[in-house]
Amino acid sequence: MSYGQPFWRIAQPQFSSQSAKEDLSQFLDTIVLVFNICVDRNVQLQLEEGKDRTKEQVSCDLKEFCMAEIFNNSRVYKYNLSRQIERLDFNNVVTQWGYMYVYMCRHIHLVYHVMSTALRQNRITVHSKMQTSICAIGAGPGSDVLGLLMFFREAGIRFPFSEINLLDRCVAWNDSWRSLIEKLPKDISGALGECNYHHFDFFNDELTDNLRRVINKATFVTFVKSVSPVSAWLRGKQFHYQHRNGQPPRGHWHSIYSILQCMQPGAIVLYIDNGSSQNTVHRKILMDSALLLGFQVLYEDNLTDFRMPCLFSKTCKEFIKYMNFRPCSVAGQNDTLLLWKPNRTY
Ligand SMILES: C[S@@+](CC[C@H](N)C(=O)[O-])C[C@H]1O[C@@H](n2cnc3c(N)ncnc32)[C@H](O)[C@@H]1O
Repeated sequence: MSYGQPFWRIAQPQFSSQSAKEDLSQFLDTIVLVFNICVDRNVQLQLEEGKDRTKEQVSCDLKEFCMAEIFNNSRVYKYNLSRQIERLDFNNVVTQWGYMYVYMCRHIHLVYHVMSTALRQNRITVHSKMQTSICAIGAGPGSDVLGLLMFFREAGIRFPFSEINLLDRCVAWNDSWRSLIEKLPKDISGALGECNYHHFDFFNDELTDNLRRVINKATFVTFVKSVSPVSAWLRGKQFHYQHRNGQPPRGHWHSIYSILQCMQPGAIVLYIDNGSSQNTVHRKILMDSALLLGFQVLYEDNLTDFRMPCLFSKTCKEFIKYMNFRPCSVAGQNDTLLLWKPNRTY
């Protein structure tokens, strides 16, 4: 079976420092390395089972499998997000790996770009002793965390995090995340410290005590490409619980309202999601709750055809050739926001 590269448009590369480019290239190399380790493991398993297969044959099967998942990833994200139909099953490790190879670095770079642009424009500040407690919502493989790490490393902060909590409906991401960070260079993995995955589902309006605790401790909460997959459901809910006459809602709202309400004063939200304007359903779902709770906008931007710099290593180039498929480097339309929760809130 052979696959061609789909559609990604050409755009001008955006500014990135050498250190950020190298980090990004290191992340992609490690994703490729994880694939190769998986091939070796499968060869070993098949040899133990007495199957007469060469490394090339196993690798070819795995490639076919991954390519099918990569194309499935593209199809679902391109056509089905606005409707309440099919979503990807990230419990499958091949689906996870396909997502990581195609999209992870692009999302890491988007996070890094928003943070560094907000810093350059003096919308946010960092200081060398700063330690941030992160809570990434719909965190998936951990792109949000690595994007922030890249940003802090460039700012010269070697140990930026006091705590990292990743919330996702699919906690099976934990395995891919562990395999990835285990293989990253020590100066990168060592900077992360302890990371914990927690089960969280956007469809549960009420947060468990554990989730309330980790969200409340966070000084930085991220929603990176995690609201759009659920917005087709949440928009109906929001309609039912709409507040009246500017008063806070009685009873409950949806999970995003619960998260923002639970955050501590002074904490920041980073939101990045698909959209060519500020009128997307997903942004509205977030902003309706944020405005009601008194959040302030620190920074916002709409990015079009934003491109990550590609500093592919030799190994990575060979792998791209072998797969006949490049990781996605251009992000079409992206709506980006940084919000701040003030001291006085409802
Ligand atoms: C497009 S991925 C984004 C992941 C990551 N933030 C990134 O930018 O690479 C969407 C994530 O949302 C998670 N997700 C989908 N539906 C969810 C739900 N109902 N509750 C919680 N997480 C969900 C998926 O498991 C996946 O990890």
